[in-house]
Amino acid sequence: MYRTHTCGELRISDVGKKVSLSGWVQRTRDKGFMLWVDLRDRYGITQLILNEEETPAELLEKARTLGREWVIQVEGEVIERASKNDKIPTGEIEIKVTALNVLNASKVPPFTIEEDTDGGDDLRMKYRYLDLRREGVRENMIFRSNLAIETRKYLAGSGFIEVETPNLIKSTPEGARDFVVPSRLNPGQFYALPQSPQTFKQILMVAGFDKYFQIVKCFRDEDLRADRQPEFTQIDCEMSFVTQEDILNTFEGLTRHLFKTTLDVELPSFPRMNYDDALRLYGSDKPDLRFGMEFVELNDIIKEQAVGFSVFESAELVAGICAKGIASAYSRKDIDKLTDWVKRPQIGAKGLVYVKFEEDGSIKTSVGKFYNDDLLKAWGELFGAEKGDMLFILSGELDKTRKQLGELRLELGRNLDLIKPGDYKPLWVVDFPLLEWDEDENRFFAMHHPFTSPKKADIEKMMSDDHEILKGLRADAYDLVINGAEIGGGSIRIHDRALQSKNFKLLGFTPEEAEEQFGFLLGAFEYGAPPHGGIAFGFDRLCAVLKGQTSIRDFIAFPKNNMGRDMMIDAPANVDKKQLDELYLDLKEIKSGE
Ligand code: AMO
Repeated sequence: MYRTHTCGELRISDVGKKVSLSGWVQRTRDKGFMLWVDLRDRYGITQLILNEEETPAELLEKARTLGREWVIQVEGEVIERASKNDKIPTGEIEIKVTALNVLNASKVPPFTIEEDTDGGDDLRMKYRYLDLRREGVRENMIFRSNLAIETRKYLAGSGFIEVETPNLIKSTPEGARDFVVPSRLNPGQFYALPQSPQTFKQILMVAGFDKYFQIVKCFRDEDLRADRQPEFTQIDCEMSFVTQEDILNTFEGLTRHLFKTTLDVELPSFPRMNYDDALRLYGSDKPDLRFGMEFVELNDIIKEQAVGFSVFESAELVAGICAKGIASAYSRKDIDKLTDWVKRPQIGAKGLVYVKFEEDGSIKTSVGKFYNDDLLKAWGELFGAEKGDMLFILSGELDKTRKQLGELRLELGRNLDLIKPGDYKPLWVVDFPLLEWDEDENRFFAMHHPFTSPKKADIEKMMSDDHEILKGLRADAYDLVINGAEIGGGSIRIHDRALQSKNFKLLGFTPEEAEEQFGFLLGAFEYGAPPHGGIAFGFDRLCAVLKGQTSIRDFIAFPKNNMGRDMMIDAPANVDKKQLDELYLDLKEIKSGE
């Protein structure tokens, strides 16, 4: 028998038992007369002990040959440890070894398999199977598995059925590029991998499966970031005969269930914020509500005061945030550093104005030439600023300034330690615009996706040609945001063929293009499509946010690096000429262009 117990389960109450364990050698410590081995498996670490007096010489010799990560099986007796380790659950006992079997040797691993590893990102990715042996990554995988199981339990308990949809499909417009797969049987034609199962889940509603879900892989060829992978997982859902309210309640219920069962955290009911307010108050459609510092707009007061400071007076927006109690501690150097930070091209602000309301009642500011203390005090009142507080103000074009101030707010939140670990602040952002104008391409894009329904009150306005009216259209679209991360998004869908065709037209599709790309869906809408809507959660992001992290990589067993490469299997890779020929692919141009 390989094992009677795992390496994580023996306790002081097991003393005296004869056991057998299997696992990997984490480390050995040889004091000559005494030898210890830490044996590790998925469940934990158990200490083995061999000593000169009691262990047969041959066995001791064998134990001395063990290296890191060798796979062994041992038999022995559970004894109480002389010096206990209260950091691990098995720390009160050890195993006095009576037999040892080497199941497999190991090369010396290229990095240490400890929490604080010396392995860089790429090395750990290349040897992901070793990285996955580290406790933190392993725990993340177990956490992910539990989260998936609890998701299935909750949704199945609410009457949802899980349906698999195909991976070899046609383009789904979620706003990224498609990964394509050439078809050997259909020369010159390609499948696209799904960016989401969007069209299929809507068709399942037409088919009458009124509560669908799927934990499903999605593929998007877009630039990668800490919270984005080219293949990622969604908890994808769709429901028929529901309003937006029904969907928000169902998925708030799911989120609360997941927090309760996996973290024992009881979330309060989620606040709702409309899209316009999110941008006006936080400069982002995914506000982090773990700290305050809401924006205050100064346009009116700047106009009233009219001191001739043209930077402010000619700006579309002047807005700021108030940081409590930092005025005396925030040095000239801090201010310069922050000013450089907002001026970096990634943020793009032209400058940063500050006002300090010192404890002694004096006021310090970078715009003292234009504004006297009385005028500045009036600003302070708008912010509710008290002695000791400091204002940071940006100005410029409306959208850009909001975005910059939003970034500045987050930076200050981080720098001033305003974000407490273990704090969760979920909210629903609702009433998204239906369309988004793209200046470069001079056309509208769908803000969520082309199947999203406008609000009933706005349907008439869709017939307008006036861009300003079209920009103002609101959709029954919503996002779930937790701690500043977009965890999920969804909408009520259009289920009427004529309205769907109208929406395609606004998005610049000719009727022929719409028919070619989405004829199957438009066709389905003619056979009794019920009113429906849904949502998809980013499952990897949900795992990371629950665990208080921002990078999703360590919650994915085999992630890709920033260049979209799998470092372990070394993909993507070349394929041989024969395979290319079979697929009618000619790479001559790429080769000569290299
Ligand atoms: P959306 O495009 O908003 O909606 O995606 C839903 C959620 O998926 C996550 N997500 C990602 N996670 C990791 N890597 C990525 N590259 C990535 N892209 C998206 C986000 C996001 O909120 N079909 C619609 C849903 C619907 O309308 O029902 C959709 O896919 O957390």
